[in-house]
Amino acid sequence: MWIDLKNHAGRVADRRIEDLFQDQSRAANFSATALGMLFDFSKTQIDGEVMETLIALAKASEVETRRDAMFAGEKINETEGRAVLHTALRNLDGGAVTVDGADVMPEVLATLDRMEILAEDIRKGEITDVVNIGIGGSDLGPVMGVLALAPYHDGPRCHFVSNVDGADIADTLRGCDPQTTLFIVASKTFTTIETMTNARTAKAWLADKGVSSDGRFVALSTNVPAAGAFGIPADRVFGFEDWVGGRYSMWGPIGLSLMIAIGGDAFRAFLRGGQAMDRHFQQANLSENLPVLLALVGIWHNQGMGYASRAVLPYDNRLMRLPAYLQQLEMESNGKGVAMDGTDLPVQSGPVVWGEPGTNGQHAFYQLIHQGTAVVPCEFLVAAEGHEDDLKHHHQLLVANCLAQSEALMRGRSLEDARAKVADKFEGDELERQARHRVFPGNRPSTTLVYEKLDPETLGKIIALYEHRVFVEGVILGINSYDQWGVELGKELATALGPLVSGDAPVEDKDGSTVQLLSFVHRHSA
Ligand code: F6P
Repeated sequence: MWIDLKNHAGRVADRRIEDLFQDQSRAANFSATALGMLFDFSKTQIDGEVMETLIALAKASEVETRRDAMFAGEKINETEGRAVLHTALRNLDGGAVTVDGADVMPEVLATLDRMEILAEDIRKGEITDVVNIGIGGSDLGPVMGVLALAPYHDGPRCHFVSNVDGADIADTLRGCDPQTTLFIVASKTFTTIETMTNARTAKAWLADKGVSSDGRFVALSTNVPAAGAFGIPADRVFGFEDWVGGRYSMWGPIGLSLMIAIGGDAFRAFLRGGQAMDRHFQQANLSENLPVLLALVGIWHNQGMGYASRAVLPYDNRLMRLPAYLQQLEMESNGKGVAMDGTDLPVQSGPVVWGEPGTNGQHAFYQLIHQGTAVVPCEFLVAAEGHEDDLKHHHQLLVANCLAQSEALMRGRSLEDARAKVADKFEGDELERQARHRVFPGNRPSTTLVYEKLDPETLGKIIALYEHRVFVEGVILGINSYDQWGVELGKELATALGPLVSGDAPVEDKDGSTVQLLSFVHRHSA
């Protein structure tokens, strides 16, 4: 079926997307509305035949069977022998979820209640600053969420320290009062070197300021004994199970900083949004199913058309960290070259995901998107309504810019129009030369997701939408979206290089480049 997709790509190669709109029903036919959201993918080359092949691909890959297996707690993460049940964390009123015959929901809901008690306690108390120490999935979700839900943030200030670069924690602590700062050590494994190094530095900072660590640390982890060994008492440890992947974990204990920021009710609204998307994903027909459609568009652009990257462009400034969040979610999940059965993938995996909020991106990299030689499918996100009631004209301009970009990408500007633009300034060969620079090839695909307003519930829907999109793409590619072996080698080598950098071990058996780099560092560090 991959070959059918490639054949379609060849068939549509010379076609103009805008011409497809001669069919008056195109916009309605190539879009879907659900849960207060409109996903419009009509500004792509997808037509009825392409859609048929994509749906057939999804069916042949048994997307629905795999989806049901995931929700049923089967061990679909086969390389780690684990279930994949981050959906249980937002299953507020969905009944039992079993893993190995045991219902996990009582524990999930009890942990959520405990989190809420602590969060409300902190929100009412003396704490002015909360510092979440974590990296990857133990950082990106909460950071993204706290920024996204700024209008609902009525708790203490939240800071996020992730990088092992001492600059990160030093810059953060400079603004904090040791008497009123709480540290959350967020690490699924509680072994991640960056996080443990930063956590120890935070402890030393308190000691240095003469403040006891008692009651100043909270741990979020599947490794409860390690959190205890670090000195965090059991009543301040919020555990979760290994069936929650790191990059899928913001719905549970890893979301504690977000809960402290916005409060328990708003956090539960976020979970409800996620759960609503779960139900939609489970119940809607493939052709009306938002995560499935988003995934099929992704497959079409990457594996079908061969576009190597996709840009995520939120016209919603508070989603400024969504692209970074999605980089981990999508690339750590689906950036793999080996299928679940150990064979090589027959198609490319990926794609590279990147982006920035519009309109800022327009004044930076949109030049390449419009006129560069590589086609970058763009995924726009925009709210129908902003939060700033007194700044409605800002929001109108924002929406206008978002819609203008997808229109410009599709239409482009012909040489004839470009000539007309500058005909009063140039003539002859110079007119031709100048005009060519002003041509926009157009025919560049984009999708737009419009939602009502970025409130906690909507954020939950958006994040769950992308999670399930990644799942569907992974199933179609035949890979395991829930492991991440590709991050291991670098970690091992970094551990081995530590003593070489500090000078505690001789530089032996290293390649010439590494020796040269180490030598420069040694010569130029005190
Ligand atoms: O980078 C690899 C990784 O394991 C991610 O998958 C994870 O989100 C991150 O490290 C942090 O891991 P932990 O939460 O165990 O500290």
